[in-house]
Formats: sequence, structure tokens, C-alpha cells
Amino acid sequence: MEEQSIQMNLCSTKKEKPSSDQLEFGKIFTDHMFIMDYSNEEGWHDARIIPYQPLALDPSAMVFHYGQSVFEGLKAYLTPDGEAQLFRPEKNMQRLNRSNNRLCIPPVDEEFALHAIKQLIALEKDWIPSAEGTSLYIRPFIISTEPYLGVAPSSHYQFIVILSPVGAYYKEGINPVKIAVENQYVRAVLGGTGEAKTGGNYASSLKAQEMVADKGFAQVLWLDGVEKKYIEEVGSMNVFFKINGEVVTPALNGSILEGVTRNSVIQLLKHWNVPVVERRISMEELYQANKAGILEEAFGAGTAAVISPIGQLTWQEEDYIINNGKTGEIARRLYDTLTGIQYGKEKDPFDWIVKVDKVEHLVK
Ligand code: COI
Repeated sequence: MEEQSIQMNLCSTKKEKPSSDQLEFGKIFTDHMFIMDYSNEEGWHDARIIPYQPLALDPSAMVFHYGQSVFEGLKAYLTPDGEAQLFRPEKNMQRLNRSNNRLCIPPVDEEFALHAIKQLIALEKDWIPSAEGTSLYIRPFIISTEPYLGVAPSSHYQFIVILSPVGAYYKEGINPVKIAVENQYVRAVLGGTGEAKTGGNYASSLKAQEMVADKGFAQVLWLDGVEKKYIEEVGSMNVFFKINGEVVTPALNGSILEGVTRNSVIQLLKHWNVPVVERRISMEELYQANKAGILEEAFGAGTAAVISPIGQLTWQEEDYIINNGKTGEIARRLYDTLTGIQYGKEKDPFDWIVKVDKVEHLVK
């Protein structure tokens, strides 16, 4: 794909920035956004950075009716030297195109999309919060915009990137969360869209989550869509269990999201010589491990959630308290190392960090 230039239309007045120690997740947005259009005739075109603003879309735009859309989530971090940096952003761009492929959305040029994100971050650098555990969440997404009610792939799309200064995803932060194992509803089935990052997966997860939210559960743990036996993921994060010294995470099977943090956790554990295995794991096995006293830790891993220890799992009305409801040693070490690398406070032995400040041709 040919490299295009990015047109700039900057705002004349800037919004007031929130105080960095009171940030929640995803409620505040920066001054600018990136947008580009697609048509079957022109391909991706008209890349531009413009003031953050509502979209004007035809009510018949296909995204409103058939949900043909994909998104990504990544973060920009501020280092102690005041530099902006990203964590493995190329992985998000690759996954964006895998999601595009599943949803019949035309691929984006991954390098150009990353270039556009860096340009936007460079422009909005002052929005990256500095308080511990905060970052600038980056939400790239693509929507189908053709005004048409037939069920078919759209001929027009918009690719948009918005930015949100965020604090912890769960109010518990790094403290353990309570998770309910979902027995009635399923999130995804083999052959479905489970491994794509598409809005419909999240829409279909709301019912189960709503049913347990008022009982103090942060999220639900999804089981496989056929037998409802095997553990899949939490929906906003992948899951890991430490059983008798070995860390186990459900193997990617087509219905589980391939998390960037999941992949990084596996690499870190291997690097530390901690046994780690990707395989099928059933709730029954977890139940037996807990009964035998060898379920040592459970935690989730995701971009928004980082590492989130699971202190309690509830399955078929029974509560399993894990590690006395405390943050485990492995979860803590992973959290410290990952955030250490992400915030530029620790060595980056895997070359995961991409500096924003090194962007060439910075827009003026
Ligand atoms: C992320 O971790 O970035 C996610 O996309 C999870 C979520 C907030 C839907």
C-alpha cells in the first residue's frame, strides 16, 4: 500500500486535562482524533487528524444494523524522563487485520496505521498522565459506513483512533477481584468470532455480567460454547492458573482472544524458567486442584486490566477462595515487570518498547 500523508486540522482551544490521580477507565477523551475513509473505489484515503468530535453518519450506515466493526486497545506510557512509549503496538496492528479479515473489512496498512497512532500520540503527549498505574489508552476502531440495509460487507468504512487518559480498569486495581463462572450463557463458539476483537462479542457478554455485577463480581469467566466445561477467558482479559508450581492458560482454539499481554506473560514466565503450558483446562480440574490445595494462584492478563489477581471464583454456587484472597507472588512479579518495562523503569530484554518520540517527520 502506498504511504499517504496525514492532513492536520488542529483545535483552536484545548480541553482542561483531568488530574492524573483521579482517573477512571475510558471516560475522558483528548483534543484530537485520527480518521481515514475507505471506499471500494479509492481504498483507504483522506488520512487526517482533526479535533475530537461526534461523527455524522447516515442512520442506515451498516454498522448500526449488522455490527460490522472491529477495535483494538493499547496504551501509551510516560517514562520517568518524560518520553512517550508504546508496548508491542505492532501486535495490535496485526490483530486488527486478523479481526478485519474475519469481519470482511479491508485490511489497513499496519505500518501506516502505527505511524498515524504515533503522530496522534506525539500531538497529544501532554495528555499522557503521570500518576502511578495511569496511561493514555489508545482505541483504534473501524466501522462500516455504507448506507445500505442489505446483509453484505459494506463498501465504505472509517478507521478512527481516539485517546483516553485512564486509571485502573477494575476499581480493585492490583488487588484481587471476584469472578463468577458463567454456566448459562456463552461468549463464543468454535467457528464464531471469538478470536476477533469485534463489538458483538462484547455486546453478547453484557447479560451475564449484568446478572452478577450486583453480587460484587468484577466479571464472569467464560466456559467453552459446546460443553461448558473448559475455561476460555474473562472477556476483558485472558486467564492463568498456577497449579502445583506450573502456570496453565487455556490454549488458543479459535474462540479465545489472542491477547498481547497473554503472549507477553508466557514469554516472561519462560524467561524466568517458570513452567508454563497452554492447554485445555476444565472447571472440574480446577475444582479438584482447589480441593487438593494445589490451586496456588489465578490471575487475568489484558491491556486494560494489566495483571489482575483473582481472589475468588464462584462456580455453581460454590466459592473458591484462591491464595487466601491475596495477590500471588507470580501475579505480583508479572505486574511489576510488565509495568516496569511499559513505563521505562526496567530493562526491555525483548525489544517490546516502541518510542513515540523517535517518530520522524513529526507533524507541526
Ligand atoms: C483491552 O484490554 O484493551 C480491551 O480491549 C479490553 C476491554 C476494555 C474491552
